[in-house]
Amino acid sequence: MDQERRKLIAEKFIELWGVPPSVIARGPGRVNLIGEHTDYNDGFVLPAAIDLDVVVAARPRRDRQVNLYSLNFHQASAFNLDAIARDSVSPWSNYMRGVALVLEKAGFRLRGMEAVIQGTVPIGAGLSSSAATELAAAYAFQAISGFELDGRRMALLCQQAENEFVGMQCGIMDQLAGALGQGGHALFMDCRDLSCQPVPWPSDLGIVVCDTMRRRELVNSAYNRRRLECERAVRLLSRYVPGITSLRDVSPEVLDRYGHHLPEAVRRRAKHVLSENQRVLDAVVALQQADEETFGRLLDESHSSLRHDYQVSCHELDLMVHLARGLPGCLGARMTGAGFGGCTVNVVKVDAVPAFVPAIQDGYFSVTGIVPQVFTCRPGTGASSLP
Ligand code: GLA
Repeated sequence: MDQERRKLIAEKFIELWGVPPSVIARGPGRVNLIGEHTDYNDGFVLPAAIDLDVVVAARPRRDRQVNLYSLNFHQASAFNLDAIARDSVSPWSNYMRGVALVLEKAGFRLRGMEAVIQGTVPIGAGLSSSAATELAAAYAFQAISGFELDGRRMALLCQQAENEFVGMQCGIMDQLAGALGQGGHALFMDCRDLSCQPVPWPSDLGIVVCDTMRRRELVNSAYNRRRLECERAVRLLSRYVPGITSLRDVSPEVLDRYGHHLPEAVRRRAKHVLSENQRVLDAVVALQQADEETFGRLLDESHSSLRHDYQVSCHELDLMVHLARGLPGCLGARMTGAGFGGCTVNVVKVDAVPAFVPAIQDGYFSVTGIVPQVFTCRPGTGASSLP
């Protein structure tokens, strides 16, 4: 964290509570390179933690009161650990409330704290500001309350907070990527057994994230609907192939053979998931073999499958992807995250990045009249806390 940011947070902390923070915890955002809508189907994903993050600066209290202040929302929020309830006035605080509740339920007795929270992950853009907030909160509570969990367990508890308290039925990818990220590496994850393998990210490739500025609307309900469609595909297919418990167990041959028994939309959802799993496996091999062209092509194919079969893209995402592909040095582009708005991820030759950024901004502006935010990311390290 740079000095200026640290100073800003410390100054606010002292202004509010008269003393400096004793702990600074950090949860990174993530960009998913490939493997979209596969995590909750026990599938494969290839995200990377990024250097945009959420920071929670905290100091313990003697009692069980939690006093929060968000520098992004310029708003305070407070709750007691013995009566944690959802807050509709400061929804940003629900991620921290949910994490506190889940940790308590898991048997960890938390201490109260004073905390200032500040993030650089754009909110609602598909870079997982929610998982970043949950992780930063979890690591802050951990440091202050004196217990120690491994990254996998932290990720699962943060996911549980989001599922049960916030009400978004997300998979495990965001929290796991944020917890286990390694600088300079993407993470190949098997969401069935939660095993992770770091894959070195080539130093000549830049990761450019373009925010369409279209905020994701109704994403929770549309996302949860997709999950139900996938579960329905499994239920219907299991009549013909007993023993399958998720789309991970379904081969393309089985889908070809029995797909006509599924409603057309449900069949297409399954088709996306199966083909996307294969693309992740192929993408890992392509990276390992330094076959950048194939890697880029797989990104393009992923977008097309998300657009036509999974139907979670939108006009703005399609436009951004289309513009990127026409620019020099861009190997591949696709929507990233849940979809319905938010960001695209673009893999661009490092030398071409300086020209790519203004070109995509101008191109998008000239069609939409909107200036998109563009971030150049590096695969960053996972969540942590520092004294
Ligand atoms: C959101 C969820 C993830 C994952 C992606 C889609 O980011 O939080 O668990 O399902 O959407 O790939």
